[in-house]
Amino acid sequence: MTEPNLGDEFRVEMDALMHQLTEALPGVVGSIDDRIALPPDAGNILADFQQRLPEKGNGAAATIERLIYLNNRAGGNVVGPKSYHFVIGGSTPAALGADLLATAYEAITYTWILSPTGVEMETQGLNWLKELFGLPVSWPGVIVTGATMANFVCLAAGRQWWGEQQGVDVSETGMSVLPPCPVLTSGFVHAATLKCLATQGIGRVNVHRYCKDDFGRLDLDAYKKGLEALDSAPALVVVNAGEVNAGEFDPVNEMIELAREHNCWVHVDGAFGLFAATSPRTAHFVEGVEKADSVTVDGHKWLNVPYDSGYAFVRDHGLMARAFRYDADYLPNADGDRPTPGAIGPESSRRARSFALWATLQAYGREGQQRLVEHCLDIAQYCAEQVRASDKLDLMNDPQLNIVSFRYNPGGMSEETLDYLNIRLGEAVMVDGRFLIGTSKMGARTIFRPAFSNWRTREADIDELIAVILEVAATL
Ligand SMILES: Cc1ncc(COP(=O)(O)O)c(C=O)c1O
Repeated sequence: MTEPNLGDEFRVEMDALMHQLTEALPGVVGSIDDRIALPPDAGNILADFQQRLPEKGNGAAATIERLIYLNNRAGGNVVGPKSYHFVIGGSTPAALGADLLATAYEAITYTWILSPTGVEMETQGLNWLKELFGLPVSWPGVIVTGATMANFVCLAAGRQWWGEQQGVDVSETGMSVLPPCPVLTSGFVHAATLKCLATQGIGRVNVHRYCKDDFGRLDLDAYKKGLEALDSAPALVVVNAGEVNAGEFDPVNEMIELAREHNCWVHVDGAFGLFAATSPRTAHFVEGVEKADSVTVDGHKWLNVPYDSGYAFVRDHGLMARAFRYDADYLPNADGDRPTPGAIGPESSRRARSFALWATLQAYGREGQQRLVEHCLDIAQYCAEQVRASDKLDLMNDPQLNIVSFRYNPGGMSEETLDYLNIRLGEAVMVDGRFLIGTSKMGARTIFRPAFSNWRTREADIDELIAVILEVAATL
């Protein structure tokens, strides 16, 4: 008798694995509401992750069982209703199912011939997003890992434009023959944008922030003067549609219109803020966005598709194609009838994030997305009401979107002591683990800034959040 070969072994194991997952997945997904946000003893449970590579493995069944055991005890539950740190969304049922299937099918969306469904879903999904946000239907777009990479795509296109304005193809020759590239923005500019500008050779030092206060709100007059000082030289403008500490916006329309009077590329970072467009309650914040040159929006935030997923939209396809040119004898023509998204963005090999994008919009449509956004707007208002009602908490902003800024204030302390107390409280709440929520700064002041972008969050979770913060504060 011959020994079974690896292929035979894996086929049998794969069948068994499907049964194991069918048994396990309902428990994994079904416990999302109840699992702790950040298990306090995660470090101890994972302490034995220092082992040498096993010579002989223990097979899929035992490994997957161990993975589920470890994740149930030590995994962060960021998709749950009590994770408010950063800006993290949940996953809609259709998006979760589609994303699991993207892995099960192992769909690769570099080009159409690898995954006709994945690539067509990308085109359709991005077109639906343009409708949802009121962006011109003619704009090309590409799916990337998140808003950082979407900003990377948009700013790479902007940089390409800036070079071409001066007769230089920067993707070909680099930047060395050119002067510094000025970037005009407000103090709301996100760290992700700065990271992109730093890695694209533009440099953080060339970012000019026009601020009228220590929170970073735009100083419109100073911005106007900055534009005039360009004296027709080309420049990049970054408009921040939704900043992370209080959910405020740059004046989108005004900033774009002023930039249009000069020779500027205008990029809008609407990672989560662009979703304001989906509700009549908030749409005014992003009016005029369609006049920009490029726009970033995230999927794993307020669209509620699983990590990782983000979208870059750029007015001019040619700039994307030149910035990310990718050709070789064995590769398909980027401009054929069968699209090659891998030739207009940074990743060549890409998983089918489009499955989840397409599925959530197909399943819930415009109305479902509006309900999701408005649910989070309501939760933010509810949170603000609970903060106002407490004599130990100060509300630091009147929330206009999905972020509530507040601090603990037992009374009788200086501003500096309060900052110190809130930093310690933030660390203690993180150690407690029932909620994933951290502190940040609003100007000089230390604040909590829960961001609500998950359909799962309920008013009862907010009641518990306030109770936990006060309970932990009382122990300090
Ligand atoms: C305005 C803005 N831009 C960019 C980013 C970076 O997004 P990602 O983590 O999806 O890359 C974020 C994340 O919170 C953001 O809020």
